[in-house]
Amino acid sequence: MDLHSFLRAIPKVSLHCHLEGSVRAETFVELAGKHGVELPEGVDPEDPYDYPDIYGFLNVYNLVGQSVRERDDFRRITYETLQEAAEHSVRYREMLWSPMDHFQVGVAYETAIDGIIDGIRDAQSDFGIECRMIADINRMQAPEAGLEMVQHVVDNPREDLIGIGLDYAEADYPPERLWKSYRLAERHGLHRTAHSCEDGPPRNVETCLELLGCERIDHGYLVLGDDDLVQRCADEGVVFTCCPVSTAWVYFDDDLANHPIKDMAARGLKIMLDCDDPPMFKTNPSNDYIVAADYMGFGPADFRQFVLNGIDGTWLDEPTKRRWRLEWSREIDELITQLDDGP
Ligand code: ADE
Ligand code: ZN
Repeated sequence: MDLHSFLRAIPKVSLHCHLEGSVRAETFVELAGKHGVELPEGVDPEDPYDYPDIYGFLNVYNLVGQSVRERDDFRRITYETLQEAAEHSVRYREMLWSPMDHFQVGVAYETAIDGIIDGIRDAQSDFGIECRMIADINRMQAPEAGLEMVQHVVDNPREDLIGIGLDYAEADYPPERLWKSYRLAERHGLHRTAHSCEDGPPRNVETCLELLGCERIDHGYLVLGDDDLVQRCADEGVVFTCCPVSTAWVYFDDDLANHPIKDMAARGLKIMLDCDDPPMFKTNPSNDYIVAADYMGFGPADFRQFVLNGIDGTWLDEPTKRRWRLEWSREIDELITQLDDGP
């Protein structure tokens, strides 16, 4: 077996994939047509996922959100992304989604979450994949809107919805703006993560850990600018959910070979890999592993460790994590023995 086949085959957890960023281009164009969402000039229906920068990307991401309105739309997009994930050996996903983008066009929280749960159930019975959801706050909106969103989550509990997150552009929107939302989530037993140090200073990671009570960090690359904080995160085993393809393009001059992920691993940070917004960045769950092998020089033992780090980073109960660590490492070790070049 060659290395790429090995990377497609190894069992994976997925902790950093956005539902709206996972909508196939054809599905987006079809749903936009169904609900009368006009594609602005510059968005090509033949290739809508083409943009000059993060803001262009976020505009299209927001349009995708506005195009998903009915319970069955949510079922469909959830099912489609979980089908793709299962094809790439993802067994368990904690998936981010953006309720506030749907509120903008009058979609009720319950309509969206119940459609998503329909999709999770259908995908689990058809492909065996398990999934839980994380409601992300759009940090570019007013903090009060974030608080209102978390209140919807609290008022409509669903066992498949297990935590909150924070996304959209980090520059100019530091995490402390959302402290009330995170306190509310914590009081109601919700888990917490946040996009941080994707495009902001190291202290944002510190704020997320100390003030927001985050249990893991999405991205985290620019934490490398603070040696003491890197040491602390390494010592405490903070899990970072890193996305090579999307962020190389957005922030690091498309230079995968010099992506900070390489340095994060070298400096002892506990990283796992994921694909962020797969069709929107023309990637998929295995491809982000493959580019990490091809451009960053990681080998089979590194990927084995990244998968185990991912299991540690999940919000599953400890006995399940222990069991998966044991069973999956045996499976991966067996796959390693089948590699053309040996272990
Ligand atoms: N929402 C979806 N993908 C994102 C990313 N990479 N950064 C910020 N917000 C996002
Ligand atoms: Zn993301």
